[in-house]
Amino acid sequence: MIGANSTGENVTRLPSPLVELKDPFWNNQEIRLWVKRDDLIHPIVSGNKYRKLAFLMPELANNGYEGVLSFGGPNSNHAHALAWMCRCYGVPLTLMIRSSVSHPQSATLEDVRTWGAEVRTIPPKQYREKDTIPMMRAWRARYPGYLIIPEGGSHPKSLLGFKSMMEEVREVLPKPDLFICPVGTGATMAGMIKYKRDREQVLGVSALKSSTLFKDLNARWKLDRFQGWTLAEQWHFGGYGKTPSSLLKFVKWFEEVYSIRLDPIYSGKAMFAFFEYVKYQLIPPGSQVVFLHTGGLQGWRGIAGQ
Ligand SMILES: Cc1ncc(COP(=O)(O)O)c(C=O)c1O
Repeated sequence: MIGANSTGENVTRLPSPLVELKDPFWNNQEIRLWVKRDDLIHPIVSGNKYRKLAFLMPELANNGYEGVLSFGGPNSNHAHALAWMCRCYGVPLTLMIRSSVSHPQSATLEDVRTWGAEVRTIPPKQYREKDTIPMMRAWRARYPGYLIIPEGGSHPKSLLGFKSMMEEVREVLPKPDLFICPVGTGATMAGMIKYKRDREQVLGVSALKSSTLFKDLNARWKLDRFQGWTLAEQWHFGGYGKTPSSLLKFVKWFEEVYSIRLDPIYSGKAMFAFFEYVKYQLIPPGSQVVFLHTGGLQGWRGIAGQ
């Protein structure tokens, strides 16, 4: 459904490429690194957004929902991808955008408005409460017949998308040892933890700073049922959306050396963590590591001075 571009050409790239990066820095420790290039799946719906929405959109079409209600910040990758998907499926979309101004502007919002989404705003304080039971009741009453997709596309059914991502990896690399991904709402990591094999490990790298993150993610995704995963919380670079020059320098350097553009909000922080793990010899020799590029490159447009 998202395959065609304006000239009718199919531009969805699945399975996404799995590319090995060679460098003595990790190869000398007998570590091999592959990048799962989900950023290349589609020019608009890429990365974990594709994986999450791929299973939700058919659900929407098959269950007679009248529309979709979802949430995000003014540069939200999820809002961007969802607006395109809803346009392709001909489904009305209302986006509740976190903002203290009544008509927020961003390149992302310009696109979603062009694609027909209704953009409404919700002040930051209320936004934090959007998933509480009373607020959910209020959303349902206000948008009857709508599918409510949480921020980040992190609906419980979106986890299934990561099963196919991991299967694609194992088709090429039958015995990966460690998967690395960035963490926001935790759905991507939770999907990988849920669908990993016993011998496989998952390392999630938090893009946000929160003293209750581990507890919150455990509670939301019931992760304590599973073994073989770690949440790294020390590479958030100051918190969600913070992009200090040290991080931007790393991401730019990485692109120059390996010809892969990362986004600084999520995958840049996770890749930085991989480098730190190598530097401190925290990955066992002989490991085959798969780094999931979760896309989000449209978000660069929201980064000041870029
Ligand atoms: C590009 C990108 N990578 C990673 C994440 C984090 O994924 P999750 O929210 O599933 O933890 C997001 C946000 O959802 C994102 O937009």
